Amino acid sequence: MGIKAVVFDLDGVLVNTDRFHYLAWKRILWELGKEFSVEDNEQIKGVARSKSLEILLQMKNITMSEVEKMRVLRKKNNLYLEYITEIDEEYLLEGVEEFLELLKFNGLRTAIASTSDNTSLVLEMTGLKKYFDVIIDGHKVKAPKPNPEVYLVCAMELQIEPDECAVFEDSRAGVLSAKRAGMKVVAVSGRIIGEADKCIESLKNLDMNILDFQ
Ligand code: BG6
Ligand code: MG
Repeated sequence: MGIKAVVFDLDGVLVNTDRFHYLAWKRILWELGKEFSVEDNEQIKGVARSKSLEILLQMKNITMSEVEKMRVLRKKNNLYLEYITEIDEEYLLEGVEEFLELLKFNGLRTAIASTSDNTSLVLEMTGLKKYFDVIIDGHKVKAPKPNPEVYLVCAMELQIEPDECAVFEDSRAGVLSAKRAGMKVVAVSGRIIGEADKCIESLKNLDMNILDFQ
């Protein structure tokens, strides 16, 4: 069965914003008197904000009232927004625009599936919005990755069957979410993550063969 649509995760696949999420969480944990390493960050990559906090509280043995959680979540997002105030097309990852142009040239439909509430803002700031037929973000779906909802809603809005969609993802939670939705998955991480069908280092120099899953 041929691929008719390509669905992208945003942070860490198209835009170099992952490090800003990392830095914001690092600062939050520092204020709570805890270390936060790159390895710790792997546990929350691709995971929605409130779920990330739950994982971190458990990981670092911290208890917190619901009110305090709300305050921390707001602060994390404010820090992230401060970090991204300057982002523009320079923050696109390698090969992104060329690959999106190639997909459009070949008549494929394209979509974003991100659980970030800041998706629209980041797409606007980096000039990417024009490339996508469908954009599903944290305001449209509530179930965080690895739940398949974000990818299933994407397929529904694209009006394309999930097994005719190829997904580009960089996180374990994201790969699992897309596989559970019944899609083909390319891990953009330099190594196979979970049940991903293929893996690549970046979107640089890709051709249409990347969408061949036979
Ligand atoms: C994902 C990021 O895309 O979005 C996560 O990989 C982030 O790090 C999640 O926690 C939620 O994003 P936001 O912008 O709503 O905090
Ligand atoms: Mg990601």
